[in-house]
Amino acid sequence: NYDTEYLFQKAYQAKLPYYQKRVFLRGLVEISNYCKMGCRYCGINYKVHTVDRYRLSKDEIIACCEEGYFLGYRTFVLQGGEDAFYTDAFLVDMLQELKAKFNNIRVTLSLGERSYESYKVLKEAGADRYLLRHETASKRLYEHLHAEFMSFDNRMKCLYNLKELGYQVGAGFMVGSPTQTNEDLVKDLRFLKELNPEMCGIGPYLCHSDTELAGNDSGTLTETLIMVALVRLILPKALLPATTALGTLDKLGRENALKVGANVMMPNISPTENRELYEIYQNKICTGDTSVQCRGCIETRIEAFG
Ligand code: 5AD
Ligand code: FES
Repeated sequence: NYDTEYLFQKAYQAKLPYYQKRVFLRGLVEISNYCKMGCRYCGINYKVHTVDRYRLSKDEIIACCEEGYFLGYRTFVLQGGEDAFYTDAFLVDMLQELKAKFNNIRVTLSLGERSYESYKVLKEAGADRYLLRHETASKRLYEHLHAEFMSFDNRMKCLYNLKELGYQVGAGFMVGSPTQTNEDLVKDLRFLKELNPEMCGIGPYLCHSDTELAGNDSGTLTETLIMVALVRLILPKALLPATTALGTLDKLGRENALKVGANVMMPNISPTENRELYEIYQNKICTGDTSVQCRGCIETRIEAFG
């Protein structure tokens, strides 16, 4: 409708002064699908017994980054479930090796909630950025979507700790999750205005049939795009990824996001043989592809949309 189109145009225009038509690429390595957390929407939470679990070794992670470096990526996002295998000592060693091996790179970690001390030593070892979606700024909805042992307050605390330590921080939320209302989404917008993160990942909730939330409706393309556009207007300088979840929901979901203010894409550089095991939602795109294929695919898609 007319109002939505108007919003989308304004949001596209809002990024131009800062970013023009550029799209930033970050190579994503999914390092482990072990997870001790209980996000009820997520297909790799600890209660899901139908997943084969894997974790990558330090050498495997570095090999993924090496291929990514060769493909031109200069930011590596190391993402995984909350897996106690990845101790501070392990990660410090890995970060130091990555930083020594590759010139001019940035390393982004996305490994969930850790202590202030842990975030601190990882920062000192070379981590530049940290992605930790707040998931929802509504305490009621947070508690509905997560296991009883998880804490809304701790998640918020982690985000403020990361900021205080000087990380570039990525927050983010899902759109269309079970029982989410517009009021909840307004809370996300107000929270983002206050936190002022460098990045914000926004994707549709995609219902996974092996989770406790099986049978719920997924989020829609339009409502997710509206939230991307609103966040662009509220945080005009933020990095906003056109998320894989949007690309999974709709063939052109990511391209549509770029047209309403998104300016980042995170092509997968995980080993192809592990990709389908990192099934946070079903029918995830790129699981049969190689890093080289995703590199080519992403470029073609971005160019096709100007
Ligand atoms: N649908 C959409 N997004 C999901 N995530 C996890 N499970 C799902 C799902 N079923 C998102 C969460 C998490 C990010 C890595 O993926 O927001 O932070
Ligand atoms: Fe992976 Fe298109 S981005 S196949």
